[in-house]
Amino acid sequence: MPKSRRAALAAPLLAWYDRHHRSLPWRSPPGAPLMEPYRVWLSEIMLQQTTVPAVIPYFGKFLARWPSVHDLAAAPVEDVMEAWAGLGYYARARNLHKCAKAVSERLDGAFPDSVEGLLELPGIGAYTAAAIAAIAFDKPAAVLDGNIERVLARVFAVETPLPQAKPELRQLAAAVTPQERAGDFAQGMMDLGATICTPKNPDCLLCPLQKLCTAHKRGIAAALPRRAARAARPVRHTIAFLLQRADGAVLLRRRPPKGLLGGMLEVPSTPWRDTPWRTSEALGHAPLALDWQPAEGEAEHVFTHFALKIAALHGRINARAAAKIDGQWQQPRAAALPTVMKKMLGLLPGGSEGGAIRSTRNPRRGRARP
Ligand code: ADE
Repeated sequence: MPKSRRAALAAPLLAWYDRHHRSLPWRSPPGAPLMEPYRVWLSEIMLQQTTVPAVIPYFGKFLARWPSVHDLAAAPVEDVMEAWAGLGYYARARNLHKCAKAVSERLDGAFPDSVEGLLELPGIGAYTAAAIAAIAFDKPAAVLDGNIERVLARVFAVETPLPQAKPELRQLAAAVTPQERAGDFAQGMMDLGATICTPKNPDCLLCPLQKLCTAHKRGIAAALPRRAARAARPVRHTIAFLLQRADGAVLLRRRPPKGLLGGMLEVPSTPWRDTPWRTSEALGHAPLALDWQPAEGEAEHVFTHFALKIAALHGRINARAAAKIDGQWQQPRAAALPTVMKKMLGLLPGGSEGGAIRSTRNPRRGRARP
């Protein structure tokens, strides 16, 4: 690509960013001093696989509770996991804590300012290292996320489908990244992808890169980037055991530290398998034998690699028997749980909002709620 074309991209993009940047809590506006690296790092970890609106409240909550990397490092990992509940991809929370400890204890609280140094820290991959180097330290690192991939695929009319196009897009990102204001450039490309160069119906008339955009010239912007056909997402099945004490609290257990939802609280359930469960089979996995009743309705939760269909059985237990069971008892509304577990509790009679039972002698009392 000629050098002039590379430079041609940065100038209109930065001019557009100066006027139209999104105001976000982890961002310092153009021209203002750089944002503290701790905040940039925290936001970038949260924003991996998660949307901006979903991250905003969590970012505020984390900063209020742990204002510095030393505070976060000193927190028990369980507290961090609990505060993360609902944000998904829980290995991120465990690595977040590990990384905070490494920066606090080994680096005296100072994040490295180079891509190479950042890559050595837990939970920081190529994308995040480049984003932190560019945004927090103004280093000319080439940042490539999904939004930027789309913008580049269109401007340079990359016809190779994703994911095969990634190496080509990486080269293009490196070629267009300016030596100065690389952080603003990366965030400008993200904003352009999020607000104008959107996946469907891109608003090319408002785009600062329209004159440079080959896909626009050819009338194929909306069709790019092309994607290789994805395999259908497999479906798994489970039956959840909603065991409820007389005061409405439900039984929860801690999942093993490794693997999907590692270390998070869970609602007990049968294994998650490819075929639906018959109730008689599922009962073999119940936390204890009692008069389990089918709960009304079903729920579904979509993970990256499979969808989970959830049915539930509901049981009631008195406080004395409850005290003998391994696990912890929490009010459904108050529990800090992954979204899939909240969906399971949503199958409680009366929903997870109205699970309290006033009397065990008459279990139907308080059941039907509007
Ligand atoms: N997505 C990932 N990082 C982001 C950032 N810094 N600003 C906006 N969206 C993002």
